[in-house]
Amino acid sequence: MSRLFSPITVRGLTLPNRAWVSPMCQYSATDGVPDDWHLVHLGQFATGGAGLVMTEATAAVPEGRISPQDTGIWNDTQAEAWRRIAAFVRRQGTAIGMQLGHAGRKGSAQRPWEGSGSVPASEGGWQSVGADAQPFGAYAPARPLTTDEVSALPEAFAEAARRAVGAGFDLLELHFAHGYLVHQFLSPLSNTRTDRYGGDFDGRTRLALEIADAVRATTDVPLFARLSATDWTDDGWTLDESVRLAKLLAERGIDLIDTSSGGNVPNPDIPVGPGYQVPFAERIRTETGLPTGAVGMITNPQQAEDIIADGEADAVFLARALLRDPHWPLRAANTLGADVRWPDQYARAKSWH
Ligand SMILES: Cc1cc2nc3c(=O)[nH]c(=O)nc-3n(C[C@H](O)[C@H](O)[C@H](O)COP(=O)(O)O)c2cc1C
Repeated sequence: MSRLFSPITVRGLTLPNRAWVSPMCQYSATDGVPDDWHLVHLGQFATGGAGLVMTEATAAVPEGRISPQDTGIWNDTQAEAWRRIAAFVRRQGTAIGMQLGHAGRKGSAQRPWEGSGSVPASEGGWQSVGADAQPFGAYAPARPLTTDEVSALPEAFAEAARRAVGAGFDLLELHFAHGYLVHQFLSPLSNTRTDRYGGDFDGRTRLALEIADAVRATTDVPLFARLSATDWTDDGWTLDESVRLAKLLAERGIDLIDTSSGGNVPNPDIPVGPGYQVPFAERIRTETGLPTGAVGMITNPQQAEDIIADGEADAVFLARALLRDPHWPLRAANTLGADVRWPDQYARAKSWH
């Protein structure tokens, strides 16, 4: 029996299988409002058999967007637009999650096909904010957030969470990875603050834990956290610290660690290859007892099956493989001889013979 295509229950929510959509920015919203592109983009993965469809990083506050075209969830117009998308995905028997994020010093960026670096205010950009003023690579320097501004962020995430759950999302993922705001606070390389949100491990993790507390206090839905398990560089955020943080997040009601890496240092030396981040998911799973999701260069059905069957992770998040083939889960189930729910409308295509 396939483990990839077996259901998993997280905090009372049963996901029909463990082939999940990894969050993917589309840089295609207007004023943070998702539109037909997002309905078709996310909807295709639901009809394609994914067990969970996760939205792109969706900003809790306007300045938390990566590009000016990122989606948001800070107002009712955005929540109403998301409601239609969430309902469509759920009608396919698939769960839908929203990744809640804040871009921090990597905010106000060009969308990738229009260039790189920062968008100036004159072209719809904004002054990015961060843990400190150090820029990321060639980006414009950030304005360091005041202590009061940092301590207001957990409530902004909680408000975003309330809107998302109200719009019909089954679960939420807190984006603490890839060099965005919370990761910037976690890493000693990018957090030189001297107030209570900087300094030692306790100081650097304070914002992440306060956000987890605030969001957990607003809702009973499953909560995931995406971590960059390592900065892949000397003196940065480490796998040991990720394990420590994951344990603290578990105590605060985080249900699963989506285990990614990198993004806080431009161009580190990363041994990229098939499943290269899976050992991080395995170590966090083993040492914390928390379920984990593995992500990164997982492309092949047997590879995904083995990750779960061997106890390295509880689910796999797929990104580029699903862009290449949004029906990857339907195809993978056929390859593995497993059962997966097909849309009734597509039933006549179920046999590959
Ligand atoms: C187009 C695109 C957009 C992405 N946007 C996000 C995002 O919004 N949030 C996030 O955590 N990761 C994002 N990622 C990273 C993916 O979720 C994933 O971790 C990464 O692509 C590695 O998985 P893969 O090898 O299956 O593509 C993005 C990746 C791609 C290709």
